[in-house]
Amino acid sequence: MKPIVILGIFVADTAFRADRQPKMGETLLGHSFALGPGGKGSNQAVAAAMAGGKVHFITRLGRDDFAAIARTTWAKAGVHPEVTEDAESYTGAAFVFLEAATGNNAIIVAPGAAARITPEDLETRADLIRGASVFVAQLEQSVAAARRGLEIARAAGVRTILNPAPAATLDDAMLALCDFITPNESEAEALTGIPVVTVADAERAADALLARGVGAVIVTLGGNGALYRDASRSLHLPVISAGPVVETTGAGDAFNGGFAVALSEGRDVIEAVRFGCATAGISVTRPGTAPAMPARSEIDALLARQG
Ligand code: RIB
Ligand code: NA
Repeated sequence: MKPIVILGIFVADTAFRADRQPKMGETLLGHSFALGPGGKGSNQAVAAAMAGGKVHFITRLGRDDFAAIARTTWAKAGVHPEVTEDAESYTGAAFVFLEAATGNNAIIVAPGAAARITPEDLETRADLIRGASVFVAQLEQSVAAARRGLEIARAAGVRTILNPAPAATLDDAMLALCDFITPNESEAEALTGIPVVTVADAERAADALLARGVGAVIVTLGGNGALYRDASRSLHLPVISAGPVVETTGAGDAFNGGFAVALSEGRDVIEAVRFGCATAGISVTRPGTAPAMPARSEIDALLARQG
């Protein structure tokens, strides 16, 4: 099987559970703290490897304790690291505020060394990208690096997925490099200027992205599932629930990782979206981001129960 190549960042997630966010100047006692592996790209790589993909992950790390967490995490999940070590910077971290009552999150990410990923880092892995089944990027490292990866993949006929997170505006040339783009509601709004609350809003935003050259759009809608839209089809897929929601952080990453695996296996695109939804559906029933990613057997079992 051809590999899945993912570009992105690793950071250590420092997750604080509290009733609310502190006000400026206030010290607030929280309920709990957890340190774990995070970063959208790394989470997606872990999700894809756990879901059965052969995954190579391109990134930069510092030379410090958090870098060791990255390497242990990837070794456990079976992710092949394509790491540039950057002794002049540090491995990044994310402050994750978890609202106790809802499990919802608000995040600050400092990418550290991963902010210094260059287009040349992609250039040196061009052969790896050209030999892939699917190439995946997000926007936590520079857009220039994501663009270079997408260009190399596109020129070789490798399918491309851009998860445009965190929210950004992108030019048409960048959008035209995307076979699939996978924004959530707020990211879809940032890309199109169209506020996305309902499924109908998501369809309008998807149309705007198709008109700007994207191949197909999947808007992830949290508790509302996902909208798939391409030139000929529009489909609203419901959430695939695997139990009570514990923590939604990383659900988008679970979706993208699962979706990439199913695509790389040559499944029909709607089937692949369902596979991604099932991966996300399981991940939200567990705490953490990368540690919440399900094994292939769990995804298959959940989909089988759905019929
Ligand atoms: O998508 C969730 C991730 O976003 C977290 O793991 C955090 O690190 C941020 O990058
Ligand atoms: Na989770």
